[in-house]
Amino acid sequence: MDALDRFADLDRFPVHDLDGPRGRALLADCQTGLATQGAANLPAFLSTESVASLAAEARALETLAYAKNTRRNAYFTPDDPSLPQDHPLRRFFPIVISQVAGDVLPPASHLAQLYASDLLKEFVRRALGLPRLFRRADVFQNVNLVFIPPGGVQPWHYDQNQFTITLLLQPPGEGGDFEFVPNLRTATEPSYDGVARLFRGEHPGVVRLPRPAGTLTLFRGEHAMHRVSPVAGTRPRITAILTYDEEPGQWATDAENTMIYGPRVRDIMAARRATER
Ligand SMILES: [Fe+2]
Repeated sequence: MDALDRFADLDRFPVHDLDGPRGRALLADCQTGLATQGAANLPAFLSTESVASLAAEARALETLAYAKNTRRNAYFTPDDPSLPQDHPLRRFFPIVISQVAGDVLPPASHLAQLYASDLLKEFVRRALGLPRLFRRADVFQNVNLVFIPPGGVQPWHYDQNQFTITLLLQPPGEGGDFEFVPNLRTATEPSYDGVARLFRGEHPGVVRLPRPAGTLTLFRGEHAMHRVSPVAGTRPRITAILTYDEEPGQWATDAENTMIYGPRVRDIMAARRATER
């Protein structure tokens, strides 16, 4: 049985009936948002009770998160001293977040049940207009929790994935806004002037999505530069990231997973490779 009806507000968001008139209207709204802004934002997608239980589950797993406190540029590239000092590729910003890998999520947890929902996956597939969609095979990357502590920040960047699905489980007390500039670059034009303007705090096209607890967001971050503004207050901002692929069987490399999840996952992968030999 699909668990989605226990977690989502299907009266407001009829993802179980996408061919009915209200389901079609919901899909059309999402498709318009994705086409014009790169984002479809569904506040109160989760019921109040289920978001409370999902947030409590997440807080219980926080001690297993791998904390990252480093600097990076918006393009995930190393510094290039051949470029002028003020080039956007040479702007390195602090990143302070921590992340829980999918392999530690109990299979009976509400978040695991939500990720297992075929109704949710089918809704995402149709909203994104894709011929097929699969849950990610990689047991570390499939479903994650991201914590941004007070004082933490996720700096400006473009995504390497074509789309990202997030659930806001716990908004912070203050700050922690999801901000982005739709279509800041294209496949052929990097628009570094616009990026430099954004970094100076002068870009007029910054969009901030309202994302109270329980919001589902479908986001295309390949051409829309985005960040989470610095988190203030006393509690972390917590989001779940649900990862899907257009092809089955997708795994990240051991090096990528070690970078994201730290020594715990590095050791698991090393043990696995040793038994393969
Ligand atoms: Fe991103």
